[in-house]
Amino acid sequence: MGAAGEGIIRLSHVDVRVPDLELALAYYAEVVGLVVTGRDGERAYLKGWDEHQHHSLILSAAPTYGLNSLGFKVGSLEELDRLARRVAGAGLDAARFHPGELYPASGTVVRFEAPSGHLIDLETGMRQVGNGLPQLNPPPAPADLVGIAPPRIDHVFLLCEDVDQITRFFAEVLEFRLTEQILADDGHQLATFLERDHSPHDIAFLTGPQGGFHHVAYWVDEWNDLRRAADACAYHGVTIDAGPTRHGATRGCGLYFFDPAGNRNEVFTGGYWFDPDDEPTTWTESEMGRAVFTYRGQVDQSFMSVHS
Ligand SMILES: [Fe+2]
Repeated sequence: MGAAGEGIIRLSHVDVRVPDLELALAYYAEVVGLVVTGRDGERAYLKGWDEHQHHSLILSAAPTYGLNSLGFKVGSLEELDRLARRVAGAGLDAARFHPGELYPASGTVVRFEAPSGHLIDLETGMRQVGNGLPQLNPPPAPADLVGIAPPRIDHVFLLCEDVDQITRFFAEVLEFRLTEQILADDGHQLATFLERDHSPHDIAFLTGPQGGFHHVAYWVDEWNDLRRAADACAYHGVTIDAGPTRHGATRGCGLYFFDPAGNRNEVFTGGYWFDPDDEPTTWTESEMGRAVFTYRGQVDQSFMSVHS
């Protein structure tokens, strides 16, 4: 072992519920500026322009909003099998799906419910569609980008009742590395940040309702892109929840806003690189406000509203 791509590579995709698929599709395609790569019945598939795989966002028509599932990219069938054995070894039941069985473009997927109540897909071999640029002498970006046009998905922020438990599961079973944690005065973990891709986080957990969904974040390249994103939100009448601002935890910068269904989105930039042998950063409960929003130093109650 030890080859590049061992284990989980990164966050791959989220499957989000929307009551009005056409409205949500218009928003994600024209305001967020994701690329639509497919439609089948009650689902639409989208990706950031620089992603090569078929989708990083699935919109599923449903009576409610919220998160159906999230997926992580695995480098090979051998690694998927190895991780599936670790999940089974932790006492969880997992279902296995052949390529195209779960979604038309999906690869081989191992699906299980995590102790946090979230449905998780480990996937290898999703159909590749390319990033829209030629592989020979490409320009820096496609000429037809619209809206915010983030290049790729970045992270997902979830809630559950027992953050200590899910953090242990992600670290010990799925081999994530803890980058940051917010500790309560009694020592338990209020929030944790975990990575596989060497960024500050692929996924984060905050204490809250089991199976809860706080936001999905797409990457933008720089702080000025957050201003342009806020301009796009204002132009299109999209409700801005917070930012542009700076986080203490992750040292990233972000802007939060809502899709038409009520799912919270973020565009995120900054942060740092995390090596596997780096030590995690700890925040105390009294500094939690600054860990979330550096400048205001406090978290508005509206920002804590979540959906499960
Ligand atoms: Fe975030």
